[in-house]
Amino acid sequence: MTTHNPGRLDHLRIAINAAGRDFGRTLAIRLADLGAELHLAARSADAAEAVATEIRERGHERVHAYRCDLTAPDTVAAFAGAVAERTDRVDVLINNGARYLAAADLVSASDEDIVATVASGTAGTVLTVKHFLPLLRRSDVPDIVTMVSTAGTPGHFLSDAHEAFYAAKAGQGGFTEVLSKRLRPEGIRVISLYPPDFANPDPLGEAWESTPRGPQDALTAQSLVDCVLFAIGQPRDCFIKSFHFEQAWQQH
Ligand SMILES: NC(=O)c1ccc[n+]([C@@H]2O[C@H](COP(=O)([O-])OP(=O)(O)OC[C@H]3O[C@@H](n4cnc5c(N)ncnc54)[C@H](OP(=O)(O)O)[C@@H]3O)[C@@H](O)[C@H]2O)c1
Repeated sequence: MTTHNPGRLDHLRIAINAAGRDFGRTLAIRLADLGAELHLAARSADAAEAVATEIRERGHERVHAYRCDLTAPDTVAAFAGAVAERTDRVDVLINNGARYLAAADLVSASDEDIVATVASGTAGTVLTVKHFLPLLRRSDVPDIVTMVSTAGTPGHFLSDAHEAFYAAKAGQGGFTEVLSKRLRPEGIRVISLYPPDFANPDPLGEAWESTPRGPQDALTAQSLVDCVLFAIGQPRDCFIKSFHFEQAWQQH
């Protein structure tokens, strides 16, 4: 059994997709601050490298950048392959990426946008887990964390997202649901988060500390990072399968 300082992640090797901006970047910066070795991918290699550079500038050297387009299977396989050249295991895989599509109605979106939205969230997540599973199986503490959405909850209809985004998130959630059961016997935890719209302040900006977090406020990225840290920090008997959140009043 690995021993480590409580709260520190120095012992973990973590891969994150869509880490070039927004919540993926937030996760990367926060996990780096806690000492994790990071393997960051983004659709653009430059975006991943920019976040890796930000992290190195904070004094954390154990960070690597990769390109991965979740709609292009060869790049997903190449991401996992490149990580495997650097490390013999991955302890935590974070499926953060999914293209968002806002549209007033079903017919207003282009066919290309619909395919890209469904493919990035659903096929991209399935492919990423498929290609990272050999690395996860070499870990003593393997976890797969997936950022789903309330849009992936059966019966949910309050998001303004296009129907294709609902389809992508329902597919992502359906995948992690069965995966959770199938991987449990081998001790791989599959942890899914179903947040509503959340505030995502820059983790390196003043707003990280000042974003309001009262009962009437939107859920924050800070709270979501804490959920991930709590889930992956539990002893192995504690398999938290999913996080669901009540919505704030002002959401529609
Ligand atoms: N923000 C929210 O309120 C909210 C609520 C519920 C759930 N979520 C989920 O939480 C996760 C992170 O949220 P977010 O706010 O950071 O999302 P976001 O701002 O919409 O960013 C989407 C991320 O996915 C990446 N992406 C899109 N298509 C891709 C592709 N084909 N290949 C690789 N990466 C691709 C984007 O990269 P590019 O820069 O290349 O476009 C970007 O990094 C997402 O799965 C999202 O659906 C978010």
